[in-house]
Amino acid sequence: TEYDLIILNGIVVTATDVEELDIAIRDEKVIKVVPRGSLNDSTAAKTIDAQGGYVMPGGVDAHVHLDEPALFGKGCAADDYETGSRSAACGGTTTMITFAPQTKTEDSLLNTLRATHAKATDACYIDYSFHLLVSNPSSTALSEFKILREEGISSLKIYMTYEALQLHDGQILDVLLEARKQEITTMVHAENGRVIDWMTAQLENRKMFEPKYHATSHPPMAEIEATYRAISLSEFIDVPILIVHVSTPAAAQHIKQAQDRGLPIYAETCPQYLFLTKKDLDQPGFEGAKCVCSPPPRESEQDHEGIWNGLANGTFTILSSDHCPFRYEDNVKGKKTCITNEYPVGHFKYIPNGCPGIETRLALAMSAERLDLKKFVELTSTNPAKLYGLWPRKGGILEGESDADINIWYPPGQMKEYSLRNEMLHHNVDYTPYEGRMMKQWPRYTILRGELIWDKENGGLLGKKGKGKFVKRGASSLAASRNPGDWKIPL
Ligand code: URP
Ligand code: ZN
Ligand code: ZN
Ligand code: ZN
Repeated sequence: TEYDLIILNGIVVTATDVEELDIAIRDEKVIKVVPRGSLNDSTAAKTIDAQGGYVMPGGVDAHVHLDEPALFGKGCAADDYETGSRSAACGGTTTMITFAPQTKTEDSLLNTLRATHAKATDACYIDYSFHLLVSNPSSTALSEFKILREEGISSLKIYMTYEALQLHDGQILDVLLEARKQEITTMVHAENGRVIDWMTAQLENRKMFEPKYHATSHPPMAEIEATYRAISLSEFIDVPILIVHVSTPAAAQHIKQAQDRGLPIYAETCPQYLFLTKKDLDQPGFEGAKCVCSPPPRESEQDHEGIWNGLANGTFTILSSDHCPFRYEDNVKGKKTCITNEYPVGHFKYIPNGCPGIETRLALAMSAERLDLKKFVELTSTNPAKLYGLWPRKGGILEGESDADINIWYPPGQMKEYSLRNEMLHHNVDYTPYEGRMMKQWPRYTILRGELIWDKENGGLLGKKGKGKFVKRGASSLAASRNPGDWKIPL
């Protein structure tokens, strides 16, 4: 036969087009995208009938925490590369970029990269790459940026908060300057750590320990200020940055104003800032801990609206999960129910920060029916691929260029509304923050380089551990300095 797989009768949605097209796949690649009816069953070893469902490039999730140590002074990640990538596959994500976390006591980023490769090799169900998480910008670390690029790593993340990770402004300038030289995109966790510590002390003095005070201790101001500061530092060095997990419309406004001035400022948001509010932290017992993440879910529906608007109007470049998995009950690895003798009602400051979401990201956003379909593909697949140097191999359905990573949805209206349950998911977490939410969609088939890895009706997870490959990344095809070349300190 001519092809390994053909996909017929789909509505192909990319970031730029919605069309009735058929797709032919050979040797892991998309090799033909042709008008509906032009391909014949007998030409292929296998045929999938999309029955009028949407056919999209596989999801690219560019913000995923797997197998991280207790970096924030709290629990270890509950998912490793096997369980996290398995969960991703079952939710329509075919490429993930996880963090390779450098600890403060490690000078070398190459050691960090090597150790992270060891965790991921032969463990993954989907393709993957890493962002280097720089917590110690030592002279060794800075000198290694060039080698990182040769190793296929073109992005890193820095933190403006968390004692174990936080960089001060001088260190941030060191990182940005070297990132500029090596054409690396820097992701910034923009929250003011000192403000958070001060608020935490205020709450402790008043014996306010419940999970809901996590949100109080991370006020919008801490995010807004740090966002503006990160933009200022980026503009000073003239280097692209991406502000991760933006939760506050006022922070998005700073980003939009910077973008309107032509600065290479990019932004990410996540489902938790579209679907959860502070009220989700205020539940009987310690349940609220399940929704504790940083930045926290914000005040109200109005905040959600502001974030949806930012997705629609282009302020946000990408929609990622920030999958950061902790078990609610787990006595070994650290748990969300951090109830101790000293704090019999628990204490918000000991709750590990982060929510699981790698499997639910795409279905939540599709089910909300708030985004234009092309915009959905752009935010969840194409733009993350472009921003982080994976395009056009990932994030598109381009003849002869794209890997055959494809997600096929149910035909519109065919799925009966259903209530999301954690038992439907494939992560190693004992809850989902979206338990009981009414959903309208879920990926029906997911294909990784031509192989069916998820078939919701027939066998569920079909992919195999170890089939996912490390993908080397190049420079960003979205982000660049405005004036590339030498940058001199203005003295
Ligand atoms: O609460 C969160 N988001 N935890 C994950 C770590 C991070 O800052 O992304
Ligand atoms: Zn972060
Ligand atoms: Zn809402
Ligand atoms: Zn994160």
